Amino acid sequence: MKALVLAGGTGSRLRPFTHTSAKQLLPIANRPVVHYALQAIADAGIEEVGVVVGHHGDDVRRAVGDGSAFGLSIAYLNQPRPLGLAHAVAVARPFLADDDFLLYLGDNHLEDGVAGFVRRAAAQRDAARLLLTPVPDPTAFGVAEVDDDGVVRRLEEKPERPRSDLALVGVYAFTPAVHEAVRAIRPSGRGELEITHAVQWMIDRGLRVRAETTTRPWRDTGSVEDLLEANRHVLDRMEGRVDGKVDPHSVLVGRVRIADGAVVRGSRIVGPVVVGAGTVINNSSVGPYTAIAEDCRIEDSAIEFSVLLQGACVEGAARIERSLIGREAVVTAAPRPPQAHRLVLGDHSKVQLTS
Ligand code: DAU
Repeated sequence: MKALVLAGGTGSRLRPFTHTSAKQLLPIANRPVVHYALQAIADAGIEEVGVVVGHHGDDVRRAVGDGSAFGLSIAYLNQPRPLGLAHAVAVARPFLADDDFLLYLGDNHLEDGVAGFVRRAAAQRDAARLLLTPVPDPTAFGVAEVDDDGVVRRLEEKPERPRSDLALVGVYAFTPAVHEAVRAIRPSGRGELEITHAVQWMIDRGLRVRAETTTRPWRDTGSVEDLLEANRHVLDRMEGRVDGKVDPHSVLVGRVRIADGAVVRGSRIVGPVVVGAGTVINNSSVGPYTAIAEDCRIEDSAIEFSVLLQGACVEGAARIERSLIGREAVVTAAPRPPQAHRLVLGDHSKVQLTS
């Protein structure tokens, strides 16, 4: 079996971060989201992987490489425009040839991997096998209706009135039967070739489509809130380890991971927290549930339940929480309580002001 990882798309819900990079490269516990997908694929025993990339393709190539770090052989497949998940499968057809494959959406994070799913898919060889999970608001997902034997009766993409609470997790197994379906469907209302429609086409033709349901932790990291939640879950399982320098005036509580080359002075860090190499934390309080990437600087600040990307700087911030702070972003305190706010904000930025 091969795997196809989708790392293109627009990432519109993660603007402004996705103006400058791919959403699949945003970090969970200081590792790009897509690394977790590749690790899960390697752990499932798959070796040949196609990675579909779009206009941030060069960044993805740099962050993933040839796959040898995961024990994988990776081919990059360029999707000129993000015309939908089924379109990405069509782009990958020459790579997939007539092999069965696992389709893995590169922004999805499944804590327990996909080894069991892949094993069962390889044994059963249903035309399509889906992974479902119950969610409180199914309107944001593909939604499935399934009978008692796990046979999928009907699928809808982001329905206004969902007929079940079972959302499609971004992991699917296909036999080559899917290619005819992909060729047959037409773009949806949002202008995309939906994989959901391709699977419905297969159901309508009497092909066997089955699903399994999981209640294990899963996140589509396509929004800030979900990325912070995935980060929280992964940090919760992380072991502590201090390789960097922590001065005697600092206190570390719980599981804290400090990379070699990071420096902590006069600060209190409450785990779970991960701190990347080259980061300096001075006179601050950090954590819990916070991931700070490489080469960041935190001074005279308090920050919790947040993710900082490489090179971010936070100075004099009395309290920051539930925040995602971009590469090389700078947060400073206003010199005195502001009469007016001065903002330089990128397109699609979101800011909450208390006054
Ligand atoms: O996360 C699960 C959901 O993923 C499913 O419940 C939905 O049925 C499925 O359609 C999908 O919905 P999203 O709206 O979340 O898909 P998104 O546009 O975020 O794309 C998923 C991944 O595929 C993401 O890593 C970007 C990539 N992608 C997307 C498109 C549209 C591509 O590589 N090429 C594309 O053309």
